[in-house]
Amino acid sequence: MAVNLKGRDLLSMLDLSTEEIYQILDTAANLKMKQYTGEQHHLLKGKTLGMIFEKSSTRTRVSFETGIYQLGGYGLFLSSNDLQIGRGEPVSDTASVLSRYLDGIMARVYKHQTVVDLAKYSRVPVINGLCDYEHPCQILADFQTIMEKKRKLEGLKLTYVGDGNNVCNSLLFGCALTGMHISVASPKGYEPAKDVVKKAQECAARFGSSVEVTNSVEKAAKGADVVYTDVWASMGQEKEQQLRLKAFEGFQVNAKNMKGAKEDYIFLHCLPAHRGEEVSAEVIDGPHSVIYDEAENRLHAQKAVMALVM
Ligand code: CP
Ligand code: NVA
Repeated sequence: MAVNLKGRDLLSMLDLSTEEIYQILDTAANLKMKQYTGEQHHLLKGKTLGMIFEKSSTRTRVSFETGIYQLGGYGLFLSSNDLQIGRGEPVSDTASVLSRYLDGIMARVYKHQTVVDLAKYSRVPVINGLCDYEHPCQILADFQTIMEKKRKLEGLKLTYVGDGNNVCNSLLFGCALTGMHISVASPKGYEPAKDVVKKAQECAARFGSSVEVTNSVEKAAKGADVVYTDVWASMGQEKEQQLRLKAFEGFQVNAKNMKGAKEDYIFLHCLPAHRGEEVSAEVIDGPHSVIYDEAENRLHAQKAVMALVM
C-alpha cells in the first residue's frame, strides 16, 4: 500500500500505520546504506529543523543535528532556557512563529500536551523527541535494530523489564502495530497505565499478537527474542530515585533473571543506562547486547522520518 507521510506530525507510535512503520524502516535502511557508501542524499537541501529541548539529551540532539546536516539541511538547537517559552510565552505563539521560519520542529518536552499544542499551532511537521508519555523516535530505531538482527518483527517476543514509562508505552504501541508479542514485567504500582495497555491490546488483537503485563520477571522473560529495559527513574523523577531503587529490587536484567529467554536473545536499552541498577554490566556489556547499533540507528531512523515528513 502506498503511504504518504509528507506534512505529518509524529507525536505517538499510534500516529503511524503498520505500512508507515515499514516505510520508515525501509527508508532508514536505505539511508544507512547511502551513508556507509558515501552516496550523497541531500533530500532536504536548504531545509531547517528547529530542535526544542526542555530536557537533557546526548543521542537525540546529536542524531537529529547530524541527521539534518547529512540530508543537506540545517538544524537549530533551541534550549527552552533560551527561548521566550522559558519566560512564559505561550506554546501557541511559539509554534505559530517558529513555523514561519522552519520546515520542521523536533521537541523534547516534559508534558505530552506540549507536543500536542506545538503540532496544533505549527504549520510544519512536529516530531516528538521524547515526552512523559512516549518516545516514538527511539522505538523506530529499536525496530530497525531488531530487523537487522532478527530479519523480522512479526511473531517475535519482546520482553520489557522495568518502569511502565514513556519508552514502555511506545514499545507497547509499536509492538502491537507490528504483530510482535510484548510482555512487560514491572513492580506493583509501576506498571504501564491501564488506558495505554488497553489501547495496545485492542491494536494487538487486530494484528494477531499479544500484550501481557505481569509482576513476574521470570514469566515475562520466558522465550524472549528481545529483552529491553530503561532507567528506573526518568528525567523529572530524580527526587524519587531512592524510593524507586527499593521498589525495583529484583527487576534487574541480569543473566540469572534472563535464564528463560531464548539463547540468542538480543538486549536493547534506549540509554543512558545505569549499570548495576536496571541492568547488570554482564548483560549490557556482554554478547547479547546490541546497544550501540541501536543508538546508531537513531540517526538513520530519524533521517528517514525527517525525509518523509518534511
Ligand atoms: N535514548 C535517548 O533518547 O537518549 P538521549 O536522552 O541521550 O537523547
Ligand atoms: N525514560 C527515560 C528515557 C530516556 C531516553 C526518560 O524519560 O528519562
